[in-house]
Amino acid sequence: MTLADRYPWPATGKWLRAVMVMTLIGADAGPDGRTRSISCETDLAVLLANRVLADAVVIGAGTMRTERYRPLRVSAVQRDLRVQAGRTPAPQLVVVSGRGELPWSDPVFTESDLPVLVITGDEQPPPRPSVGVEVVRLPGGHLPAEAIVTALTARGLLRITCEGGRSLLAGLAAAGLVDEWALTVSPLAGSARYRLASTWSAEGFLFTRFTGSPQPPSVADSAPPATSAPAGSVGAVNGQQ
Ligand SMILES: NC(=O)c1ccc[n+]([C@@H]2O[C@H](COP(=O)([O-])OP(=O)(O)OC[C@H]3O[C@@H](n4cnc5c(N)ncnc54)[C@H](OP(=O)(O)O)[C@@H]3O)[C@@H](O)[C@H]2O)c1
Repeated sequence: MTLADRYPWPATGKWLRAVMVMTLIGADAGPDGRTRSISCETDLAVLLANRVLADAVVIGAGTMRTERYRPLRVSAVQRDLRVQAGRTPAPQLVVVSGRGELPWSDPVFTESDLPVLVITGDEQPPPRPSVGVEVVRLPGGHLPAEAIVTALTARGLLRITCEGGRSLLAGLAAAGLVDEWALTVSPLAGSARYRLASTWSAEGFLFTRFTGSPQPPSVADSAPPATSAPAGSVGAVNGQQ
């Protein structure tokens, strides 16, 4: 099973998928303030695979200021895949910002193939013009989540992968606009790393046991009362960027 198979998109209509990783103590970034330090290669592959057939990759300004996204590049194979699937040749990077204070001279703004779409309010002066930016100004400062999503769907951006952060996602979730959560649980708790011992689910909850090294007790010692969530191997990454 490929990652594309694990993260399918519906054939029609708006679908907003939140893609996040968090640690055992609920941190969304490591001590360096970056997501990469709580992530792994497979988690990165999941993030990238979700972009391949998405119309829009949406992030909040805090994530842009911290993670300093680079231009989203699409390979020739990915472009063909997208066009065959009826999508645009490349996903649209979208940044949501109230204050419009973004690292405008970063390559993501100056060297992207597609202008970055910045959705912002009209209470601040418009962000400084740049060739690599398209600005959509909506009424207000802190924008209603519905208005953000409507600005996307009105442009035909229906498959939306939102890569965080928490503030943006909290607003989208509160408005009932998140259709799917692709949540990775990192085995880290601060600087300690644990080992996944078992997972099971009941009542729509996922239950996990992470244990310290060296050897966790056998999973058979704690028979799950309901369905087991398979750990499974991860398939080939489709079109990693
Ligand atoms: N673990 C993960 O998967 C993951 C994913 C992404 C980010 N992160 C981490 O999360 C941290 C950043 O988190 P965060 O919560 O500050 O980030 P965020 O949600 O990316 O950004 C918050 C900012 O986005 C803008 N914003 C969000 N909702 C808005 C709305 N409804 N209307 C107008 N503007 C809106 C505001 O920008 P202005 O300030 O410009 O007004 C707000 O300050 C970083 O450390 C990053 O590394 C982790």
